[in-house]
Amino acid sequence: MSQIESLLHEDRAFPPTAEFKSAARISDPAEYAEMYRESILDPEAFWGRMARELPWMVDFDKVLDWSDAPFARWFEGGKLNASAACLDQHLEGPRAHKTAIRWEGEPGDVREFTYTELHAEVSRCANALKARGTKKGDRVAIYMPMVPELAVAVLACARIGAAHSVIFGGFSSKALRDRIQDGDCSTVICADGGWRRGKILPLKREVDAALEGIDSVHTVLVVRRTEQEVAWFKERDTWYHEALAAADAECAPEPMDSEDLLFLLYTSGSTGKPKGIMHTTGGYMVGAYLSARFVFDLREDDVYWCSADIGWITGHSYIVYGPLSNGATVVMYEGAPTTPHPGRFWEICEKHKVTVFYTAPTAIRTFMRLGEEHPEKFDLSRLRLLGSVGEAINPEAWIWYRRVIGGDRCPIVDTWWQTETGSIMITPLPGVHDTPPGSAMRPFFGVDAVILDEAGAELPANQGGLLCIKKPWPSMLRGIWGDEQRYRDTYWSEIPGVYFAGDGARRDEQGNFWIMGRVDDVINVSGHRLSTMEVESALVSHPKVCEAAVVARPDEITGQAISAFVTVGADVEVSDELRVELGEHVTQEIGKLARPREMRFTDALPKTRSGKIMRRLLRDVAAGTETSGDTSTIEDLSVLAKLRGDEI
Ligand code: WTA
Repeated sequence: MSQIESLLHEDRAFPPTAEFKSAARISDPAEYAEMYRESILDPEAFWGRMARELPWMVDFDKVLDWSDAPFARWFEGGKLNASAACLDQHLEGPRAHKTAIRWEGEPGDVREFTYTELHAEVSRCANALKARGTKKGDRVAIYMPMVPELAVAVLACARIGAAHSVIFGGFSSKALRDRIQDGDCSTVICADGGWRRGKILPLKREVDAALEGIDSVHTVLVVRRTEQEVAWFKERDTWYHEALAAADAECAPEPMDSEDLLFLLYTSGSTGKPKGIMHTTGGYMVGAYLSARFVFDLREDDVYWCSADIGWITGHSYIVYGPLSNGATVVMYEGAPTTPHPGRFWEICEKHKVTVFYTAPTAIRTFMRLGEEHPEKFDLSRLRLLGSVGEAINPEAWIWYRRVIGGDRCPIVDTWWQTETGSIMITPLPGVHDTPPGSAMRPFFGVDAVILDEAGAELPANQGGLLCIKKPWPSMLRGIWGDEQRYRDTYWSEIPGVYFAGDGARRDEQGNFWIMGRVDDVINVSGHRLSTMEVESALVSHPKVCEAAVVARPDEITGQAISAFVTVGADVEVSDELRVELGEHVTQEIGKLARPREMRFTDALPKTRSGKIMRRLLRDVAAGTETSGDTSTIEDLSVLAKLRGDEI
């Protein structure tokens, strides 16, 4: 029952070029194998050594205490400040005047901060917070557009030992209010507004609405970005630029215990209340630092761009903490990928000479649909490494990304991880592995990943099952804020003693992992359990298809039948013939069993704001029932309404 059949096969594999290998941090498979072996067999030695690359204020006495499982304690006795690890440690040497953040706004304005300048700005912001009574142990809600002050605010909280809770700027005042209340925040940092597709997102207005009747918040610090009129509450509101102008540029970083809370980040459960995922200082920093270093192969002269928003874990770990603790130059962009033209991302790559680029499959599929002529207009020859995160990347999109963006020379790191894992868990190392399109490849250092059935038995090669982690790792979540039991129930009870966060996967005979999607999405056709990801991937491999989502619909004969929602290229006519053609294509690619019973064409699929397809909503559409469950995280509710109304 627990096994998921895998019907998709992929024989291609792409080695890194000799040029990439010769400069890579690790390129020797034997060296990698030895490091991985040590990380699993002697984690104390491995993590002790790696952790000591960070600038601890007081060294730790113990690497791991797992006696209170599933509550891990890493690097106890150690004291570290995450903002000092990102900033102060670089000020002594040649990085002092290196660019830390190079930012571009949606209207095209550009700002740069060297490590010295960023340090001063963060220190001023930290002092401004302190002056208003925000202190160590508090929680600070941050609700901002992708402006440099967002990174500054995050680091300023870390500097004074207040935990940040970043809430994505696209969320409504209701979602913001729930999160501020759940985290019992004392302070909010926001902006008057942000630019998105040429329009102003009125963030301050949302904050005002969210805070109605909440007394716990004594301070709202407001960054001026879009300059429209905003309501002002004198007792509570302060302009960021005024507060910082009055603040000192020196602020000693607070020595934080390794297990002190660094941040909360809310992630949606499929139903009900969002979960405040807790990450603590030492372990999280070790995970973010080490993974950024090895997975993105960061070198001193890299210009690194992660297109995620800091409102998601990807932005926390791979815009702020990971790259900055490595002393990298980070590009940050405020706006939409296609504003004012479909080549905006590639224009940014050319203009800022980006060498390492990290984005999501949903973006890649959008660019595929828009056409190659847009990236072709720009010089992408400086790119040397590409990354993908957030969903399984189907081989078709992978190959396009490699060829069109990566010029057939850049390795792709498909990185599997979660808000809960804090840092990348399954990934190729770009100088070591030959990568087949669609595989997230191998567990990162210290990650003991297995594929289990529901009874906890390990499955043989190529059988899909539950993707689980057997051992604690430094950047693992420490719990769900205010709900210990939910933490145990959600992650540690499916198979007792083992971490399971909901994804299915298989491991092939070479040991490579293939993520098959959320196990809740698995479809059961005539007793065969199929992964949605594989059927979708087969559909997308047809040249006329851009995106596809498949879900199960109840069926009297087969138990469940496959319903497909398909987005086609701009110039493609939809018709019954096309339906038949696509059905035959799936049959050919993976077999008759996977052929969708029903197929609907649509302009857009319902997605979360971080770009994941919301299949559970499509299930209701396919079954013709009312939408059940939470829709507050959907990006565009009208997509759902359209799907219900406009069936072709
Ligand atoms: C999915 C994002 C396949 C997965 C860092 C996971 C992926 C969830 C991949 C976590 C990948 C993320 N291949 N699926 N490379 N990366 N996922 O918390 O289902 O926003 O459980 O963290 O995204 O999403 P989250």
